[in-house]
Amino acid sequence: MIKRFYLPAVILLIVSGISAQNVSVIPKPLEMKQEKGHFIIDNNCSLQIEPQNDETARIGSFFNDYLKQVYNISLNNSKGEKSIHLKIDKNVNLPKEGYLLKVTEKSVVVTAAQPNGLFYGIQTLKQLLPVDATNGKPEIPVVEIKDQPRFAWRGNMLDVGRHFFPVSFIKKYIDILAMYKINTFHWHLTEDQGWRIEIKKYPLLTEISHWRDETIVGHQRDHAEMDGIGYGGFYTQDQAREIVRYAAERYITVVPEIEMPGHSVAALAAYPNLGCTGGPYKVKGTWGVHKDVYCAGKEETFEFLQNVLDEIMAIFPSQFIHVGGDECPKDAWKQCAACQQRIHDNGLKDEHELQSWFIHRMDKYLASKGRRLIGWDEILEGGLAPQATVMSWRGEKGGIEAARQKHDVVMTPNSHMYIDYYQSQNKDSEPLAIGGFLPVDKVYSYEPIPEELTKEEAKYILGVQTNLWTEYVATTKKAEYMLLPRLQAQAEVGWTPKELKNFDDFAKRLETDYLRLERMGINFRDHRKK
Ligand code: ACM
Ligand code: ZN
Repeated sequence: MIKRFYLPAVILLIVSGISAQNVSVIPKPLEMKQEKGHFIIDNNCSLQIEPQNDETARIGSFFNDYLKQVYNISLNNSKGEKSIHLKIDKNVNLPKEGYLLKVTEKSVVVTAAQPNGLFYGIQTLKQLLPVDATNGKPEIPVVEIKDQPRFAWRGNMLDVGRHFFPVSFIKKYIDILAMYKINTFHWHLTEDQGWRIEIKKYPLLTEISHWRDETIVGHQRDHAEMDGIGYGGFYTQDQAREIVRYAAERYITVVPEIEMPGHSVAALAAYPNLGCTGGPYKVKGTWGVHKDVYCAGKEETFEFLQNVLDEIMAIFPSQFIHVGGDECPKDAWKQCAACQQRIHDNGLKDEHELQSWFIHRMDKYLASKGRRLIGWDEILEGGLAPQATVMSWRGEKGGIEAARQKHDVVMTPNSHMYIDYYQSQNKDSEPLAIGGFLPVDKVYSYEPIPEELTKEEAKYILGVQTNLWTEYVATTKKAEYMLLPRLQAQAEVGWTPKELKNFDDFAKRLETDYLRLERMGINFRDHRKK
């Protein structure tokens, strides 16, 4: 009796043992059933796409190009014995980003209601393939997957203000986001230390504001020494449009951020009349929060910002436009006659209400153009603008408050989502970072719906986002090191039902994922290192 039960159990264990090694899909799908057997991909295999149009053909060629590049295999389009099908079926009962993936020994079928889902099916398929071509023909395990995301907003922010990254890297970065089904790239384009986007109406922004004469050496806490080396860079509007197109083809929306009223010294350096004192101002080479901000009293500030936003909206089709709103000291406003007049004329209580008035005005402007304002949680202070969406960064408090006021929220608390923090407590063994300690398992443990919220309020939580601030991230290699694998952890927080999350299982999948990253020449921090 014992033997009859024992033997199948051993086989099952072996099969699942093999599969545990092979299958490393991140983020973990909603439903996945694996069985014995494989579909083997070779040059006799065909790719069938329904319906055939430019968009589905492009999704198909993403897969074909990958097979060619990694395994030197080209799928053909003649109807052979073995085939891979990509299908859009409007009647399939799946949300926009969902997909079905069915692999048998004879065929692979990816079905989705919309192209987004088809693209995600391909991302999963790529992760089901072996890491590289060294072990013969690539095989995909027989598997059935039904998948869809938990949250609509799965974002990542890159600060290109403190350090500038070339277009080629922004594309690589977007490719990395797409691999893990991240759908929002928040591009932080303006800072005290540099303005990074061409605005045709204000050419000095890319003559003066993009350039700083020097940068602080080492950590700001420890040093007062400057490097004496000029630093700058910006994206032309054509380059930004190219990034928007590149991202859209990978089902990523680019949300641009133009900071106001604070973090704006670089703009003031070129247009000093937009500040309270009239300057002169200098693009900053040190980090932190600076006291020179846009004057809220002068009409020309709003004329400038609205003109800038007009050009931004013409480049970025995103529904959301980020206006910053964080860390705006009120010192200059307190001393400024125009700002005090504005407070008086509008019956405002103080400078905090003036900041709220400022954001309300931008909210109204963006709404009049059919867009939606999003800002950091300081925009709650002095009263939230009617259409505003809140990015909760100083913990979850702002997010909870905004959701209770029936405003949409993106959760990006610094405690769990600030990937400029150290990845080890042994800081001396790590590259210099801003501070903090945020290991991958802490990111993974994050639950975006705070317990304090009712079911109804929880609906306002759009999703979750990691932020990569770059004061201490000057190179692309370091940006990748800070990003990975914390991005994978966030991706699973945003995609996978919380009941299916398990860090040990995730960590095992990461080990395979690292091999893929190595093959692709992408840097990461191995979480097994202490
Ligand atoms: C922020 O980290 N200042 C939004
Ligand atoms: Zn002023």
